Amino acid sequence: MMSSASMISRDACVARDAADPLRGLRDRFMIPEGLIYLDGNSLGPMPRAAASALNRTIEQEWGHDLIRSWNSAGWFDMPVRLGDRVGALLGAAPGQTLVCDTTSINLYKAVHAAIGLRPGRDVVIAEDESFPTDLYIVEGAMKSAGRPMTRRLIGTDGPSIDALLDETVAVAVLSHVNYRTGALLDMATITKQLHDAGALVVWDLCHSIGEVAALRQKSLALTELFMARVTALLPGLDIVTPRQPSLRGSQVAISFDKGYAVVQAMIEHGVIGDFRAPDIMRFGFAPLYIRFQDVWDAADILAGCINAEVWRDPRFNRYLDVT
Ligand SMILES: Cc1ncc(COP(=O)(O)O)c(C=O)c1O
Repeated sequence: MMSSASMISRDACVARDAADPLRGLRDRFMIPEGLIYLDGNSLGPMPRAAASALNRTIEQEWGHDLIRSWNSAGWFDMPVRLGDRVGALLGAAPGQTLVCDTTSINLYKAVHAAIGLRPGRDVVIAEDESFPTDLYIVEGAMKSAGRPMTRRLIGTDGPSIDALLDETVAVAVLSHVNYRTGALLDMATITKQLHDAGALVVWDLCHSIGEVAALRQKSLALTELFMARVTALLPGLDIVTPRQPSLRGSQVAISFDKGYAVVQAMIEHGVIGDFRAPDIMRFGFAPLYIRFQDVWDAADILAGCINAEVWRDPRFNRYLDVT
């Protein structure tokens, strides 16, 4: 992997993009001209192929073929067919992955089933930094268990799984990548630890792409470059994402008390990141379409906004419903 030290100029980043074996993939997405989109871990940009696929589904399969499409368009086995394609990215064998429903609904089904599979155990472990809806779902699944259940939260009730795990734990609900900080858990080791203790585990993989080595390598290079540039431009800034590659996902989170206004100002300058209350600026680096030159420019724009103290401008402090 090329280190950030060898990309010490914008020209070097442009050269690295020209040599990137993944560079052709960017054209498969619709990315508005001049925009640097660092929020793909929340809502990905539209694949160009999506518009025609959706149009065909609506006009032909639904509009014209109607109920025949369960067979003629393969609607019936689509969860399995798509599941196998996603499963290939996860390293799962054919038949092990399904595509259906939303994360929240799937999580409910999985946690409810896991509680049912461990009838003698009455504890569910979750994380106080879980995605908020995940915690509501865990509460709902516990209420519908048909027996009293207790929740133990990593962070609130104990510092780690080790402190909370015993023979009363039925299931743990964990996020592979922390949606705020970008910290990455060791899924294989933790899964084994829980299974050895007789418990089950349900992983939220919303921020994980899977086992795709080329993508992972570029993702680490992008996040490393961003952290190095931000540190060089703004030495005092508090980057909360782990520096160690094995401990981070594909995002960089920065804690900054004026973060909301900074993210708003960056959007005005053509860089879309996002903000997580109370003070996290979060930037996602999707290797399928983010270029090294984008990383360089985004760090410059971040530094420009902070150096200009954009939070003094009231127009960047207007709170929107969705941040
Ligand atoms: C980490 C994580 N978990 C759960 C969800 C909820 O997903 P859904 O809206 O599909 O239920 C999201 C949505 O952004 C998420 O990022």
